[in-house]
Amino acid sequence: MNSHHHHQFLFMFLLFFAQKIELLTTEAFTGTYGINYGRIADNIPSPDEVATLLRAAKIRNVRIYDADHSVLTAFSGTGLQLVVGLPNGYLKEMSANASHAMTWVTENIQAFLPKTSICGIAVGNEVLGGGDDELMEALLGAVKNVYNAINKLGLADVVQITTSHSQAVFANSYPPSSCIFRENIAQYMKPLLEFFSQIGSPFCLNAYPFLAYMSNPEDIDINYALFQKTKGIYDTKTDLHYDNMLDAQIDATYAALEDAGFKKMEVIVTETGWASRGDDNEAAATVNNARTYNYNLRKRLAKKKGTPLRPKFVVKAYIFAIFNENLKPGPTSERNFGLFKPDGSISYDIGFHGLKSSSADSSLLSLKVVRAQGLSKSYILILTISAAASLLFLKQ
Ligand SMILES: *[C@@H]1O[C@H](CO)[C@@H](O)[C@H](O)[C@H]1NC(C)=O
Repeated sequence: MNSHHHHQFLFMFLLFFAQKIELLTTEAFTGTYGINYGRIADNIPSPDEVATLLRAAKIRNVRIYDADHSVLTAFSGTGLQLVVGLPNGYLKEMSANASHAMTWVTENIQAFLPKTSICGIAVGNEVLGGGDDELMEALLGAVKNVYNAINKLGLADVVQITTSHSQAVFANSYPPSSCIFRENIAQYMKPLLEFFSQIGSPFCLNAYPFLAYMSNPEDIDINYALFQKTKGIYDTKTDLHYDNMLDAQIDATYAALEDAGFKKMEVIVTETGWASRGDDNEAAATVNNARTYNYNLRKRLAKKKGTPLRPKFVVKAYIFAIFNENLKPGPTSERNFGLFKPDGSISYDIGFHGLKSSSADSSLLSLKVVRAQGLSKSYILILTISAAASLLFLKQ
């Protein structure tokens, strides 16, 4: 065995070993890469097939937007880490009556644990940026009642309670250090953050450089939005440089949290993505741009690095989404965010394999991503051990 093969073997072995260790920890989010399983479509694969697809792609963190029992059943015994959504339509009822929250949690969460690994409940989605005052008023009460139910059932260490925010909650996000929460939502946001900091929940952000770029294509370099080579932006207040927009959007969120008095709260990206097709006025929604964004995002997450402002909080993100969803309303882009087509083949190649192969499928890119993933904290350990082992081999 020459030393090159020897290194490869050790590398593979230790990579496997490192992944095993990760499995034993009880975090809500394993690794850094997750995906949203949106189901507003009448032509997508069955939940069983989706579980197979996700396991083959080695994507372990999954979010769904409701508590559909066919999905919860199909994910049983798969090891997939699932965040279940409590849709906005339930919030008023959950807030008004604690016993309804207990019933919902018992029937939709407790009944499926532990075989289905439900690690979180997303209570409502993008409520505070949405403009419905009654819903905004109900959010905190619903969050508290759902948490209290989980706590009474002894599941508070297993199931994390969160809610996701759109960027509409911010008044200003350029430069990142100037970001603050909008004045008209601060009255709801502050007590919500207070409660989440007490129970150790992160701030969940839906972040779309795609939308930011489309709203201002004259002033924004598309390479900055797509993680391509660019001069980036410089934040004079913090003396920090940003070479991609997603990092800047996350740090803008950290700045707003710090301004509100929650400097220690972690930010997790619960949605990000890029549409591969759009209407005539959505010129940036192309297959090429979607592939570039999602390929580079995958590499960015595989580095397991923090942001310029918070280097110790490793960036974690759920991609939007698994499938193109043909029944979603709105512009054409809304129906074209999927990494996979309804038949289970890939929309474009970023290193995943579909349920069936397509012309875009290849193994070349996946190899590159595996190499990029090797550049994690375990990589140093692996290098050290394999270097030591090489020395032993040389001695013999
Ligand atoms: C809450 O719901 C339960 C069960 O539906 C009902 O018996 C109870 O009266 C309700 N409480 C309030 C305060 O509405």
